[in-house]
Parts: sequence; structure tokens; C-alpha cells
Amino acid sequence: MVETIEWTPDGVVMIDQRRLPLEQTYVTCKTYQDVAHNIRAMTIRGAPAIGVAAAMGVALGVIEGADFDLVCETLAATRPTAVNLFWAIERMKALHKSLAGSPADLIRLRFIQEARQIRLEDIAICQAIGKHGAPLVPDHKTVLTHCNAGALATAGYGTALGVIRAAVEQGKEIDVFADETRPFLQGARLTVWELQQDHIPATLITDSMAGHFLKSGRIGCVVVGADRIAANGDVANKIGTYSVAVLAKENNIPFYVAAPISTLDLSLSSGDLIPIEQRNSSEVTHYAGTQVAPEDTQVQNPAFDVTPHRYVTAIVTERGVAREPFTESLKQLATGA
Ligand code: MRU
Repeated sequence: MVETIEWTPDGVVMIDQRRLPLEQTYVTCKTYQDVAHNIRAMTIRGAPAIGVAAAMGVALGVIEGADFDLVCETLAATRPTAVNLFWAIERMKALHKSLAGSPADLIRLRFIQEARQIRLEDIAICQAIGKHGAPLVPDHKTVLTHCNAGALATAGYGTALGVIRAAVEQGKEIDVFADETRPFLQGARLTVWELQQDHIPATLITDSMAGHFLKSGRIGCVVVGADRIAANGDVANKIGTYSVAVLAKENNIPFYVAAPISTLDLSLSSGDLIPIEQRNSSEVTHYAGTQVAPEDTQVQNPAFDVTPHRYVTAIVTERGVAREPFTESLKQLATGA
């Protein structure tokens, strides 16, 4: 499996997801500003991976001796929707507080340890999500997924693709249909590539083909990741997820969301309150660098949509599976209450 992000003596090394699958190259971030730039530029993307990157960015900022609040503010301003970013920064802030008055050497060491620990925890969390989710995947069927919620979107193993990986490891004979995921093509470029590395059979479809195949009887379930989940179970995920969820319900196909507890935002009562990132219009007017729309075309480019909880069959976390009523089941998983 590919390494998404690592702390090294040279800096924070991340695989360049803008260049995959044609080139497997790596970017080394030596400053917290480098990390912020590469999160914004989508060199690294996917909610849990962004969280790990932010934690490592904070550690770099501490080593640089930069103003701590400025480091946290800069990293927090990179992308607004994935709550894991803010979760990781909050965790580093708590560490900062607990180390007040400690020697500088110890502070630097502890920040590096914490960032590396968040990365390792994320891999273990994804494996636990896989374990809880695999029994939900029907054998001898096709699983449809949207965007990339795989090893590349996490520190390793993946959330939605973690469920698929675990099902395959348990001996299930499944294959995957991957939506290409316009406009950034995470499905075509990343999900298919990642599944090929693991020899899991994958078929690429365009987003507009999803309804056709969901109606065909071939798809056993849908599994996607999430960027933020509100207290009532509404799920923000890559643009196009909502359409897939509605089509799944129309065709009586289970729609599963796989995400770590750090993706829950129980401070928001519903998905209407989740901030949605708007991205550059050139992602829509251009295809692989070539202009496909007329000059001066007006564009909307929301990077995420919100799927209302009534379309969500279950939410798979590292602590277990939540079902309706989500307000209760998610709270129980998050707090043990
Ligand atoms: O814009 P991206 O590529 O960061 O969006 C990624 C997604 O929407 C993923 O589905 C989500 O972050 C879950 S990743 C485990």
C-alpha cells in the first residue's frame, strides 16, 4: 500500500496526489507554510489525511519557533469543510497548553511525537473501521464508491476503501465501481489506481452512469467516506455523493458512510450548518488543463454536498456501526454515553 504522508528528518513528505496516477512523485514540506500551501493545493487531500498533515504542520511551526497562534490559524484557513483538520489542530493546541513552561527541546520532541502518533492512530482507526464495515458488504456483488476515501485520503488503509479492503481480506468476492468524481477526478485518478495496486477489481464509470448501474441489480451496496458528519447524521462528502445516496435509496440499495469519530461534528445539529468549500472555476471550465467551456463562463464549483441522514443506512466508525436515530447512536459512539 502507498505511503500518503510521513514525518522524516528532512521534513513532512507527502505523495503528490495532483500528479497521480501518471507520476508517483513526492513533495517535502520544510515549513508550516509549505504544509498549508500543499493542503490548499490538494497535494494531500481527504479528511483524515488533511488532519494528519495539519498536525505535522503545527509540529514544523513549533520547530521553526513561529508564533503558535499564527501557525494554527494559517493551517485552519486552508480548507473549511473537513472537520478533521480542526480536530487535529485542537489536539495540538491541547498539547501546547499541557507543555506550558517546559524546556524548548522537550516541547519540540513532544510535538513531533504527537504528530507521528496521530498518523499511526489513523491507520489503526481505518483498520478498525474496515473490521466493523466488512460484514455489511454483500458477497459476490459490486460495491459502488464515490471520490477517494482510501489509503491516499488517510494515513493508510482508508475508510470506505478500508471497508472494501477488509471485506476482500475476509475472502469476499467483490469488485468495485468507482465514480470518476468530476471535477477533480479523485475516483478516476486515485481510487482506481489505489485498488489496482491491491489487485482489487475496479471499474471506472462516469458520475452520470451511477443511476444506471444502481438500477441494474448488480450493485450490492454503496460505501463512501465523509468530510464532516452533523449530530443528526447528515453527511458532507465530495460533491455528487447526495445524488448517489438518493439513487441508492430509490433502488433499495444500502448506502454506508465510513468515517472516524474525528469526522463527527456533534456541535452542529444538522448538515445545513456545515461550511461548504467553493473551489476555483477553472476546475470546471478546464479538463486536464484544456479549456472545454467558452471564455467568461459563469461557474459554480462547490467541492462538497450534504446527504440528509434519511438516505444513510449506517455510519461505520472505528467504535462500531451507528444507525437511526443517529442523534442518539452517534452521541453514544462519540462519548460512550
Ligand atoms: O476534496 P477532497 O479530495 O479532499 O475530498 C475528499 C472526500 O470527499 C472524501 O470522500 C472524504 O474526505 C473522506 S476521505 C477518507
